[in-house]
Amino acid sequence: MSETATANILVELLPQKAKPKAGKLFINGEFVDSASGKVFNTYNPATGAILASIAEADAGDVDRAVKAARAAFAEGSPWRKMNSSDRTRCLLKLADLIRANAEEISELETLDTGKPIFESSKFDIPQAAECFEYYAGWVTKITGETIPVSKGGDAFAYTLREPIGVCGQIIPWNFPLQMLSWKVAPALACGNTIVLKPAEQTPLTALRFAELTLEAGIPPGVFNVVTGSGATGAALVEHEDVDKIAFTGSVETGKDIMRTASKSLKRISLELGGKSPNIVFADSDIETAAKYALGGIFFNQGEMCTAGSRIFIEESGYDQFMSVITSRAQKMVAGDPLHPKTRLGALISEEHLNSVLNYVDIGKKEGAIVTTGGERIGTKGYFMKPTVLEGVTNNMRVAQEEIFGPVASVIRFKDIEEAMREANNSQFGLAAAIWTRDIKKAHKLARSIKAGTVWINTISTTDNALPFGGFKSSGFGRELGKAAIDLYTETKSVWVDLN
Ligand code: NAI
Ligand code: MG
Repeated sequence: MSETATANILVELLPQKAKPKAGKLFINGEFVDSASGKVFNTYNPATGAILASIAEADAGDVDRAVKAARAAFAEGSPWRKMNSSDRTRCLLKLADLIRANAEEISELETLDTGKPIFESSKFDIPQAAECFEYYAGWVTKITGETIPVSKGGDAFAYTLREPIGVCGQIIPWNFPLQMLSWKVAPALACGNTIVLKPAEQTPLTALRFAELTLEAGIPPGVFNVVTGSGATGAALVEHEDVDKIAFTGSVETGKDIMRTASKSLKRISLELGGKSPNIVFADSDIETAAKYALGGIFFNQGEMCTAGSRIFIEESGYDQFMSVITSRAQKMVAGDPLHPKTRLGALISEEHLNSVLNYVDIGKKEGAIVTTGGERIGTKGYFMKPTVLEGVTNNMRVAQEEIFGPVASVIRFKDIEEAMREANNSQFGLAAAIWTRDIKKAHKLARSIKAGTVWINTISTTDNALPFGGFKSSGFGRELGKAAIDLYTETKSVWVDLN
């Protein structure tokens, strides 16, 4: 039996409602085989079972996809000729189709990632639809400016915002469809064409989304999907005819992409990791801060770039905070991610689970105390108890390195100066949260924290209208909001001599 035949049989094993065109690439509006016929598996992290066999795109397949995207971007192509009202309708249609198929897509996302269906159905999938709605509104509002020029006598000058061209988008496994929407929606709104490389652990919803683009009337070649490992992503970055790479993932891969992209001076935007401080002052509503802190670190099993993984607590509020977070963490029960009551799902893979567990050991060796959790749950699937580490100091590895799992490192502090200094003492700068009733303290700290997002008396919320991205090693470029329009357009200045 050939590998491709195996792939088709495995696809049949997927729940009837959750069947994407697995085993194929999506190029030029069609589901096609990879040239090599090579495949890899995607697994259900809750059981370890194979879900589907996926095509592994090589450099030749990536080249086919890039050529399709380039042709779709050519002057006079259906996409370039499409007027802005029609493009708005395409994006709205995509949002409608995501909503109409939300149950099925949520199920697919949960099967592939191990995250609770509660989260994928209430958060990931609706937010992806909203993101397309938000950018549908932008299509008709992308404008240049008229600018008075001071030199050169009488002149009329203005700017145009033009699409960049072929965008390579490489996304991670923690929020697959949502990360897709953050990248695909603004890129399409600006008139670009796309080659998307989903994470090898979670390719299913991207393939299902590809089907929806056909239903939505997106012309062939405008949106393409190449599934595969890091090598497939690297081939996309290497490709000379890709104009921009947008990436979300690890710092190491981000650096690699930056090095490779420099060869052809591709535009790049990088959204990398974090080790976000969650700073709780004694004058805050500590009970609420502790409840939110749980969501800040245990939502999505802690597999979040913005995870509030360094919890700083002012001395006099310490005991109260710890008793709330510890007792509530103990009550969190992991279970079948497809069960609507489950709030804690499985980590993405055994390898990743072991890496997170290893960090608990590292923390213990450094002198941290496991207040609760610290262990794997059972042997089937990759579940782990929500873990709180006490007695952490900010110089320990568990305070400096991204663990990307359900592990909170708790650090005591004495005053605002210490909190400010230690919060910024990190290579990362993605997000931070501050809990206090003192408005001056809140704003003062918000100014001094080096992070792309600062939450005051809340944590882990994002909005399609608000720019999102990092300082320092957390990357650069801002997604969401108007900022993403800047990310997906080139500015052209036009100068007309009137002398
Ligand atoms: P990764 O950065 O290797 O993978 C992310 C994406 O990049 C995937 O689609 C992958 O196939 C692709 N990729 C890998 N190597 C590439 C290369 N050389 N060129 C182009 N594309 C490439 O991250 P991985 O290995 O999945 O996770 C490792 C750690 O990274 C996690 O434990 C976590 O700390 C961090 N991470 C951060 C994320 C974030 O949201 N900022 C998301 C995922 C991981
Ligand atoms: Mg999977």
